[in-house]
Amino acid sequence: MNYPFWDIPHLGSGWVIGLIAIFHVMISQFAVGGGLYLPMAERKAMRMADKEVAAEWHKQLVRHSKFFLILTGVFGTVSGVGIWFAIGLTHPEATSTLIHNFVFGWAIEWVFFMVELTTIAVYYSTWDRIDPRLHLKVGWAYAVASVFTLIIINGILAFMLTPGDAWLAVAGTGQEASKFWNAFFNPTYWPSLLLRTGVCTSLAGVWALITSSRIDGDKQPALKTSMVQWSVKWLVPSFVATPFLLVWYLFMVPASQRALLTLGIDTIAGGTFSSVTRIALIIVTTSATIVGVAYYLAYRNPVDFNLSHAVSVLLLALIATGAGEYAREMLRKPYVIGRWMFSNGVRVSYVSRINTEGYLAHSEWTWNAGAGNPPPSSYSRGEAIFRGECGSCHTLGGYRSLRTLLDGRDRAGINNFLVMLHEYKADSPYRRFMPPLSGTKQDVDDLTDYLNAQVNPSAPVAKKPVLTAQK
Ligand code: HEC
Repeated sequence: MNYPFWDIPHLGSGWVIGLIAIFHVMISQFAVGGGLYLPMAERKAMRMADKEVAAEWHKQLVRHSKFFLILTGVFGTVSGVGIWFAIGLTHPEATSTLIHNFVFGWAIEWVFFMVELTTIAVYYSTWDRIDPRLHLKVGWAYAVASVFTLIIINGILAFMLTPGDAWLAVAGTGQEASKFWNAFFNPTYWPSLLLRTGVCTSLAGVWALITSSRIDGDKQPALKTSMVQWSVKWLVPSFVATPFLLVWYLFMVPASQRALLTLGIDTIAGGTFSSVTRIALIIVTTSATIVGVAYYLAYRNPVDFNLSHAVSVLLLALIATGAGEYAREMLRKPYVIGRWMFSNGVRVSYVSRINTEGYLAHSEWTWNAGAGNPPPSSYSRGEAIFRGECGSCHTLGGYRSLRTLLDGRDRAGINNFLVMLHEYKADSPYRRFMPPLSGTKQDVDDLTDYLNAQVNPSAPVAKKPVLTAQK
């Protein structure tokens, strides 16, 4: 464990990233989809034969672009920086790997962010002030820049799930940069890019439904009808293509990880779904409901389509997007970077070394080991191991609580479980979602002491000699 540990009771550090990231993804994907929506809607209005409706569209687009500017320019940017804050604190080891590999990718990404923020500000502030054709060009410049932000970040996100054999062959040798493009255009790059593009265009339609639902249907029926119906059409491509893209995507994920999903499908009749399968069912049902609401309430009855209808479509879409991101996270377990680094920051190739040297052998941050300080107790060593090896997925008393999961086991039972996790046999069911418990036998015992004290607080602590200090 080379870094300090950030302890977040009850929620767990994973959810800090999760909550910020899901919020950010919803806004940033809207930024990409909406970036296409605005110039396309503007172009449509410019070409309309009915000049009255065209003028109403124009006014409506000015309003929509203000909403768009504030949502993406303020909340999108702040939450994007928030992701850096969260991953740097909770996953320093993985963040370091990503930076070492993709620092150029990120540099280019930031250039496009700058172009995005500049062009959207110019776009909003020059409505009716510059030549309409030039204004439209500014809109297209924004659209292109925001599509590029997706093209780049998608490479990095897909890499974490499937780094690909070419990169894995050089990982850890110092030659990783020679496989930059293999890592970037990794096995899930294309299906993931198309899936995300679909999400982006549907979110553009969903948010546009929010602003168009607020048009007064009695006063401006023509405007409302054309705008609501046109916005609904933005949902269509992704709903048609997503099932095929998902199959392609899953096909590119290593079979061992895909097993999490198929396991759940095979056992559906028995009622024992894996959580990935449960999430997949949520996505399917929310998406089907969106189709129903969008068709019957919006497309068929645009004039009566009101804000609460639009908000319910939005909430469903946000649930589906959030669930999709969660499923992708689950699919990646037990790795943070597929087959290279486990979710707790331990590199796969270091496990055997840690098993001989001890998990805390290279820990600089665990406690003050200066001269005169007493050596750490088995309990506090166990606590450090818990934080480092289990804390990225479990808390003691909150999310995936170890007190609950280990409830009912005595010290020997806890120890048996940990030995099993340490041995990590090829047929162990835990391999599908948990990394091995790396460390020496002493480490396993220390962790047992610590967890036993949590689960069975009143039980007497096993008598063991005090350890000598690590350093
Ligand atoms: C990559 C994330 C991850 C890490 C790291 C992790 N676990 Fe888990 N663990 C899980 C998941 C997911 C489950 C299934 C949870 C559920 O069923 O609610 C689980 C389940 C468990 C269970 C219940 C097992 C059962 O059969 O009921 C125990 C006990 C447990 N983990 C202990 C640990 C310990 C101890 C560590 C650290 C050495 C650890 N886990 C590290 C993800 C992880």
